[in-house]
Amino acid sequence: MCLFAAAIPTFLCMLLLNLPLYAFQSKAQRSKTMRVQIPLGINQSSWRKRIPRDNPLSVEKVALGRALYFDKRLSIDGTVSCATCHDPALAFTDAKVVAVGGHDRRGTRNAPTVLNSVFSQTFFWDGRARSLEDQVKHPLLSSFEMGMTNETNLIARLASVPEYQRQFKRVFKSEGLTMDTIAKAIAAYERTLLSGNSPFDRFITGQKTAMSDAQKRGWELFKGKARCIECHKYSPQSPFFTDFEFHNTGVGISDAGLDELLRSFAAAAKDKSGTALAHSADFSKLGRFAVSLRQADIATFKTPTLRDLELTSPYMHDGSLRTLIDVVQFYNRGGNPNRYLDKRMQPLQLSDVEVNDLVQFLRALTSDDVLRQSQTTTPQTRAAVPF
Ligand code: HEC
Ligand code: HEC
Repeated sequence: MCLFAAAIPTFLCMLLLNLPLYAFQSKAQRSKTMRVQIPLGINQSSWRKRIPRDNPLSVEKVALGRALYFDKRLSIDGTVSCATCHDPALAFTDAKVVAVGGHDRRGTRNAPTVLNSVFSQTFFWDGRARSLEDQVKHPLLSSFEMGMTNETNLIARLASVPEYQRQFKRVFKSEGLTMDTIAKAIAAYERTLLSGNSPFDRFITGQKTAMSDAQKRGWELFKGKARCIECHKYSPQSPFFTDFEFHNTGVGISDAGLDELLRSFAAAAKDKSGTALAHSADFSKLGRFAVSLRQADIATFKTPTLRDLELTSPYMHDGSLRTLIDVVQFYNRGGNPNRYLDKRMQPLQLSDVEVNDLVQFLRALTSDDVLRQSQTTTPQTRAAVPF
C-alpha cells in the first residue's frame, strides 16, 4: 500500500497501517508509536483491539511500565517486584506452590503467568479484577504480596526517585504520578508480553512435521476422547486454550466441611465484601463464589491458558499438582468429587500410552521465544534494595 505513497503525505500512510493504535494518541505519543512483534499463532488485529482507548501504547510508556515491573522499591521491604512472582526466567511465574510476598509472607494461591494476559476479560483465578489497570493495584497493596500500606506511601516512595518524576511527567504530562498512572504504565508493559510461536502454532499453520506423532495423537485426544477442549478452548481467533470461564474441577475442595465453610463465609461477608475475602487463607478455596455469590460458582476457578506449561510448574490455583502427568491423571480419574463438580468432569479411561500422548501434546504448546527468554534471563532474587 505504501509503495506508491510517495505522493501521499507520510502521516496518511502511517495512519492507514496503524489506525487502531493511532487514532487515540496525542501528537507526542504518535511520534513513537509502539510496534510490537506479534508471534506466530496470534492475530495482530485481535491484539490491537485489546489496547484500551484511554491507555494507548507508546515506547516511553512501555519502558516506564517495564522499569516499574522490575522495581523492588514498589514493595514494603524492598525484596519483591512484580517480576519476583512473574519472572521472565520462568515464563512469568515463580515455581512456588503458592506465592510468597514481602516480609516472606505466604499467600494462598499459585502465581499464574502474565503472558497473553492482554487477552483476558477478567483477572485472578476468581476473576475479581476487570482490567489489567485494575489488577495492578491489588498486589501493590496486598499484605502478602508487595504489602505497601497505602497509596500515599507508594506514590511518595516513587516521587522521591528523580528519574521516575521525569518519566511520569514525560509520559503522562499533567496527570503526573498517581496510582492510576502507575497502573496504566505497568498494564501497557504487560500488553506487550505475548506467547505464540510454539511447535503447535507451526503445526496448525501448515507445517505438518512441527509436532511429533505422539503430539499429534495427543492433539486428537485433547479434542476428542479426553475432552480437554470443552474448557481449554482453541480457535485461530482465540488461540489461548481457555474459554475464560470458571469451572469446578474439584481442586482443593471436597464435600467434607463445605457447609461449615459456607456458613463462616456468610458470617464474615457481613463486615467485608466477598471480593476482599476472596484471596484470604480461609476462603480462597471458594473461588469465584466469593466474588459473585452465586451458588453455581462454588469452588470454580478461571480456566488457565495451557501455553508454556513446561516452564510453569506447579499447577492449579493452589499449586497442588507438580507435573503434567499428575495433571492428566487428575483428569483421567474425573477430577475430585464434590457436589458442585462441573458436569464435564468425567473419568476418561485413558490408557498409559494415551496419558503420555496428551502430556507430549501439552509440551508442544511451549513458545520457542518464551523458552529462549527463560534460558537467557537471570532469575530474580530476593536481595533487598535500598529506598
Ligand atoms: C508475591 C507474589 C506476587 C507479586 C509480587 C505479584 N503477583 Fe501477580 N499474582 C500473584 C498471584 C498469587 C496471583 C493469583 C492471585 C489470585 O488469583 O487470587 C497473581 C495474579 C496476577 C495477574 C492475573 C493473571 C490472570 O491470568 O488472571 C496479573 C496480570 C498479575 N498478577 C500481575 C502482577 C503485577 C503487574 C504485579 C506487580 C505490580 C504483580 N502481579 C505482583 C502473585 C504475585
Ligand atoms: C470442566 C472444564 C475443564 C476441563 C474439561 C479440563 N480443564 Fe483443565 N482446567 C480447568 C480449570 C477451571 C482449571 C483450574 C483449576 C484450579 O486451579 O482449581 C484447569 C487447570 C488445568 C491445568 C493447570 C494449568 C496451570 O497453569 O496451573 C492444566 C495443565 C490443565 N487444566 C489441562 C487440562 C487437560 C489436559 C484437560 C483434558 C484432559 C483438561 N485440562 C480438561 C478446566 C477444565
